[in-house]
Amino acid sequence: MFRHILYYVTSVFLLLHPYVCYSTDYKPDKETEKRIEALLGKMTLEEKIGQMNQLHCENFPYLKTETRKGRVGSVMSITDPNIFNEVQRIAVEDSRLGIPLINARDVIHGFKTIFPIPLGQAASFNPEIAETGARIAATEASAAGIRWTFAPMIDITHDPRWGRIAEGFGEDPLLVSQMGVAAIKGFQGSSLNHPTSIAACAKHFAGYGASEGGRDYNSTYITERQFRNLYLRPFEAAVNAGAATLMTAFNDNDGIPSSANPFLLKDVLRNEWNYRGTVVSDWASVSEMIRHGFCEDEKEAALKATNAGTDIEMVSETYIKHLPQLIKEGKVSMETIDNAVRNILRLKFRLGLFEHPYIADQRKETFYRPDFLEAAQTAAEQSAVLLKNERGTLPIQSNIKTILVTGPLADAPHEQLGTWVFDGDASYSQTPLQALRRISGDSIKVLYAPGLNYSRDTATSQFNKVVELAREADLILAFVGEEAILSGEAHCLANLNLQGAQSRLLHRLSETGKPLVTVVMAGRPLTIGREVNISDALLYAFHPGTMGGPALANLLFGKVVPSGKLPVTFPKETGQIPIYYNHTSTGRPASGSEKNIFTIPVGAEQTSLGNTSFYLDAGKDPLFPFGYGLSYTTFAYSNLQLSSTQYTRNEVIIITFDLTNTGKTDGTEIAQLYFRDLAASVTRPVKELAAFERIHLKAGETRHIRMELPVKQLSFWNYAMDYCVEPGKFDLWIGGNSRKGLKATFNITQ
Ligand code: BGC
Repeated sequence: MFRHILYYVTSVFLLLHPYVCYSTDYKPDKETEKRIEALLGKMTLEEKIGQMNQLHCENFPYLKTETRKGRVGSVMSITDPNIFNEVQRIAVEDSRLGIPLINARDVIHGFKTIFPIPLGQAASFNPEIAETGARIAATEASAAGIRWTFAPMIDITHDPRWGRIAEGFGEDPLLVSQMGVAAIKGFQGSSLNHPTSIAACAKHFAGYGASEGGRDYNSTYITERQFRNLYLRPFEAAVNAGAATLMTAFNDNDGIPSSANPFLLKDVLRNEWNYRGTVVSDWASVSEMIRHGFCEDEKEAALKATNAGTDIEMVSETYIKHLPQLIKEGKVSMETIDNAVRNILRLKFRLGLFEHPYIADQRKETFYRPDFLEAAQTAAEQSAVLLKNERGTLPIQSNIKTILVTGPLADAPHEQLGTWVFDGDASYSQTPLQALRRISGDSIKVLYAPGLNYSRDTATSQFNKVVELAREADLILAFVGEEAILSGEAHCLANLNLQGAQSRLLHRLSETGKPLVTVVMAGRPLTIGREVNISDALLYAFHPGTMGGPALANLLFGKVVPSGKLPVTFPKETGQIPIYYNHTSTGRPASGSEKNIFTIPVGAEQTSLGNTSFYLDAGKDPLFPFGYGLSYTTFAYSNLQLSSTQYTRNEVIIITFDLTNTGKTDGTEIAQLYFRDLAASVTRPVKELAAFERIHLKAGETRHIRMELPVKQLSFWNYAMDYCVEPGKFDLWIGGNSRKGLKATFNITQ
């Protein structure tokens, strides 16, 4: 008892500490391994299989009964520490071996204090944002009894139709890896054992972001080379960073569902990467292998998933029902079960659950702390991307005396939080309307009419009133986009235009001739070319979270200068998807000067001579490229130099350049380094991001910047499936987006 009181006191003390940067701690330690073996030696087969069984808390009486019998190892989604302690007490005091439960939950971009959606966080190109957000989320969630989150999602995707694009960090493997690793560090803290630490779960292993047609749960057809060169890279980084757990995925790749894919789960994860953590299935993804047509019944599903290396089955209970018989029949070995249980017990020991199974109720002190809200605001400020700003429309100038605030997302506390928010309370959301009224004070008159009640609203009855108000205003701020529910799991779209009558509202507003600033809040890139054209300025805020309002008000008024860059390519038309910057060249790359539907003469004869890879109606370019984003100032790159023109494989390329803030405002540029391997044993992308850096410069300031690129980082899985750098010629660029940059060349010699 005393031990527990001491623990509560220490926890509260530690909670008051500000979030700090931690590194993960796990090295296999002999003491823990000994404890695992000792406990394993005492367990019956049913108790072992029980550890592999994860239940949802929905049916609480059943959960308690199963826990008492030692037939459950972890539970999902209890958010009240008292309720968790009630079932934990059964596990610890009433079950035969007293093995504690772990309580898991989807804490994706905040628990109470909601940060921008991960895709928005990625636009900051600032891993510290992800780390801080995850640390805060862990602090709040652990105070409610959660010690395991199913995050971060590090699925690379090229498809904004896929609703889950919101949950990940975009299309680039380096950016996704760095943001994912930062989130893992934030969740797991200095040590998993710390009371504010929660185990991270890198998901979904693997390839789920390539779901065919952007339809959720769909099949993928990723080759081994593409897995290794692209989709697996963030997972390897996550494993190296100490991610305590990994989750399998819903997709079947080339016919093999991820929860029973021995190539991924055994050959790569365990044998090549030496992963010692725990693998959990996705929700019912084991039993769903029946509907995939991969298993005849639940028994076969349990057999295939266990033998492939899925340690824990989430909710579908085929393991607990069928593994005893499968062992008897010799189809699953005791060694397979023991290894899975070792991984699960290791997680529980690392979390300190045997010493401190119960949770103190510290909810009130921990939720929505002022410093948490401030960090969420900074994150939202850094996550917004300025995509257009003509004639200096932004920041709002002092001659603006009356502003019309309009649009269905101007004052929508729930919608600005985005997808995957179960616990964040919308009544804490600070909306743009509230923040703009506050920041405008008495000096600027703020008129408000939403025009539409929600993003899908098609009723135009309020439009005349909005237009009337617009005529009284010096500037229009229109907040449009998507409701939170239109992105996220199972919320895919075939059409990425603005929903409802939003586009018509913007057109009516632009016809007034008043300066129109459009702010988009959305869970994905939208095809907003038409709206960009009629807006004087456009700021893309993704779903910015609890503090979206003050962050946007600061950006619009220039108290903070926009610095975000796009973590994903924005298509002009949905039909261009997949469109991404790091594609291969093809034998006929588009030049941009091709004939198109407007210029091909009527009756022209069929020919493919001189033709290239592009669309007649949409050309070759996206609406905005990866890495793009404007500021209230401008930046110029000059003087790019490399330390040499020739390198060998173990050397480091030193890149130097000058970056000048050529405008009149202080600002932050995200400098991006790209390379291209010009000829290799397999074709390589036309550009690959190699490094990035946020650089703050005062107006007029020039800084000499140095970046390092180890030659090893140019490695890829080549024709022979070796991971290596192939000698030859390379191009390199430094610039402010993936399209434009200063160029240099170098050679890798043998
Ligand atoms: C999702 C996972 C999530 C799990 C538990 C599934 O539907 O695919 O990402 O962690 O549910 O809520």
